[in-house]
Amino acid sequence: MTAPALDVVGLVKSYGGRRVVDELSLQVRPGTVLALLGPNGAGKTTTVEVCQGFRSPEAGTVRVLGLSPRDPALRPRIGVMPQAGGAYPGLRCGEMLHLVAAYAAHPLDPDDLLERLGLQEVARTAYRRLSGGQQQRLSLALAVVGRPELVFLDEPTAGLDPQARHATWELVEALRADGVTTVLTTHLLDEAERLADNVVVVDHGRVVAAGTVQELTSRGSTGQLRFASTPGLDVDQLLTALPPGCAAKESPAGQYLVEGPHGAAIDPQVLATVTAWCATHDAMAADLRIESRSLEDVFLELTGRGLRP
Ligand SMILES: Nc1ncnc2c1ncn2[C@@H]1O[C@H](COP(=O)(O)OP(=O)(O)O)[C@@H](O)[C@H]1O
Ligand SMILES: [Mg+2]
Repeated sequence: MTAPALDVVGLVKSYGGRRVVDELSLQVRPGTVLALLGPNGAGKTTTVEVCQGFRSPEAGTVRVLGLSPRDPALRPRIGVMPQAGGAYPGLRCGEMLHLVAAYAAHPLDPDDLLERLGLQEVARTAYRRLSGGQQQRLSLALAVVGRPELVFLDEPTAGLDPQARHATWELVEALRADGVTTVLTTHLLDEAERLADNVVVVDHGRVVAAGTVQELTSRGSTGQLRFASTPGLDVDQLLTALPPGCAAKESPAGQYLVEGPHGAAIDPQVLATVTAWCATHDAMAADLRIESRSLEDVFLELTGRGLRP
């Protein structure tokens, strides 16, 4: 196996005696996108700031491209997009990007990046006059223009409009196609689902789940069968017809939900039982669909609360 691009083992960090990162471990394979997913305050930014060498760990080890986060040899090899972009307020947007590109041995084309991120029309605008979303996209461009091997993007699309969000996602996908490793923090499930090869779900500084999106959403109660029918069907009686361990409920009236035995997937037998049972009760099972869980369901199950900030 190749060495991980980022290797965090047992990371601990406290503020004022409170652990905000609590024995957190994660590995990122080279050339993949990892999403560190969790609600606000989960410890995502603190974790990446330790990885970037901005904060020292209290316990645990961090290796970035095989080096200590504070090793100066890392600087040209990693790109950092901070959560709230800092910059040189008087410089023009385009100048800033060209300047940073000039420090790099093999930079990306700054003008191409401006165009991809919809910043061409503000290339001659001073940083401080850019809108928040434009500053954020410039911050992303600055993080990647040096063609780093590993980029850290902290909530890269928070507050962006849908068009800018898609441009950002496409850039991350292009970087991956180019072999760049990306560590992305986000509280947005659709962002993690779309971009991440692997997701590490954090809550209160701890890893509560990790895996591919597919692994996470197919673990546990995979399938739910939903259908619409006559309101007031006797779901308790339906349950007696189903294999042991299934769950069924009506909510709201006329909308039914059936879960597989003991959280297992909806299998052909469950499906056949439901439709046959409806038929014997002279009811039509309409809009019948089998859905896998979303990351949101997974998060709710793991933490008992939603992911909204
Ligand atoms: N410099 C700091 N001093 C004190 N508390 C902090 C500091 N930075 C972050 N925290 C606290 O640590 C917790 C984790 O914060 P953070 O890592 O920013 O989480 P996230 O990025 O997941 O929202 C929060 O409760 C936050 O208030
Ligand atoms: Mg944060």
